[in-house]
Amino acid sequence: MRSHLLNDTTAEHYRRSVTEGVERVAAKLATTERPFTGVSVDALSPLIDRIDLDRPLHDTAAVLDELDEVYLRDAVYFHHPRYLAHLNCPVVIPAVLGEAVLSAVNSSLDTWDQSAGGTLIERKLIDWTNERIGLGPHADGVFTSGGSQSNLQALLLAREEAKTDSLAELRIFASEVSHFSVKKSAKLLGLGQDAVVSIPVGADKRMQTVALARELERCKDSGLVPMAVVATSGTTDFGSIDPLPEIAELCEQFGVWMHVDAAYGCGLLASLKYRGRLDGIERADSVTVDYHKSFFQPVSSSAVLVRDADTLRHATYHAEYLNPRRMVQERIPNQVDKSLQTTRRFDALKLWMTLRVMGADGVGQLFDEVCDLAAEGWKLLAADPRFDVVVEPSLSTLVFRYIPAAVTDPAEIDRANLYARKALFASGDAVVAGTKVVGRHYLKFTLLNPETTADDIAAVLDLIAGHAEQYLGESLDRAS
Ligand SMILES: Cc1ncc(COP(=O)(O)O)c(C=O)c1O
Repeated sequence: MRSHLLNDTTAEHYRRSVTEGVERVAAKLATTERPFTGVSVDALSPLIDRIDLDRPLHDTAAVLDELDEVYLRDAVYFHHPRYLAHLNCPVVIPAVLGEAVLSAVNSSLDTWDQSAGGTLIERKLIDWTNERIGLGPHADGVFTSGGSQSNLQALLLAREEAKTDSLAELRIFASEVSHFSVKKSAKLLGLGQDAVVSIPVGADKRMQTVALARELERCKDSGLVPMAVVATSGTTDFGSIDPLPEIAELCEQFGVWMHVDAAYGCGLLASLKYRGRLDGIERADSVTVDYHKSFFQPVSSSAVLVRDADTLRHATYHAEYLNPRRMVQERIPNQVDKSLQTTRRFDALKLWMTLRVMGADGVGQLFDEVCDLAAEGWKLLAADPRFDVVVEPSLSTLVFRYIPAAVTDPAEIDRANLYARKALFASGDAVVAGTKVVGRHYLKFTLLNPETTADDIAAVLDLIAGHAEQYLGESLDRAS
């Protein structure tokens, strides 16, 4: 069994094994014609059920054959131009190389004595990101597992900085289309059920700052404590960017922590064309960025950034066995002092490799391309009488709904759109997402693949219309 341990004596075995795996994936990527095979849960489950984990195959090639059957063959492939569903990006090769390196060396970024250069690389990337945001000379931050964790940590710091000991008094203000991790965080942080005040958005799906001002005033008047305003820079559905400068003004006026959830919109930090859309982000107290959304990084790769490094002390605990207090005086950099996690992946290496090979402009160019594609898609949809499209994109999503000329019942139109999404998924021809807008079912394209073209968008719209028509035709037959 020792031959499976990665060490000085097994370097050749490691090279062969990993190369074999890489060859399989490369072959799969090169020959994948659709983003999904359309396999059903019922068809796939028995293949996995029948594998006896207590009977190993003892042969890498055989295990890779098996893996093809239970995973690779039917995986959902984000690199395919017709994967248009969630906030998953195709990944850049330097980052995948970084992933291979980081898992083999397996540094843990909690302490200096488990990572050395890894810690310094992560710190440099945090500084780089803070510089791009403009958070100022005292900024800091730490890599996290994702946007949800980044939001949780930012709100933890905001809670600790709030001027009350009564959790029930605290209020968080976020737009009605903010990410659900805000509400989840409030719950995890022990705040009351009504802690998150939902601020309405306008037709552009951006937070209405007049309503925010009114709610902040009301909060103060009722003796409650405004803990944080969460401004979303790139809402999950619409990619809309809340008006950051106006929100910053209100936060200053009311003395409230400003958190910017830029999990999606952070790609603009590298943009050559659209960086201005994030103006005002530099006034935040904390920022969430998900490199695994708009920096083309493999999952996971995220960070929480703070204007004042000192606020990270709210996540600090010392343990004699890991990061004794004296190490602070000795200036030993232990990232665990800033993190909710202890053992932590060296995800930063992927971004490092990306920036060193491609440069930030390269990443920004890719993100600009998908923003431009979304603008083209918007024009297609706006000109197509078969569809209703909700809002012109600020980033790279399109939310729309098929509206048949002959049908007026909104519930029937809902069903046709739900059917179209399901049928498309089952066909594997394309994968699209869905959401609700004012109680009605809509479909969503999240465009993060620069290889997707306007022709792809047009073709997928035709497929959706075809499936919806089929549903409505069958529905008429059923009724007659
Ligand atoms: C705006 C926003 N914030 C936070 C998150 C959560 O990020 P993660 O899935 O990395 O936890 C998402 C995910 O889609 C998001 O869109």
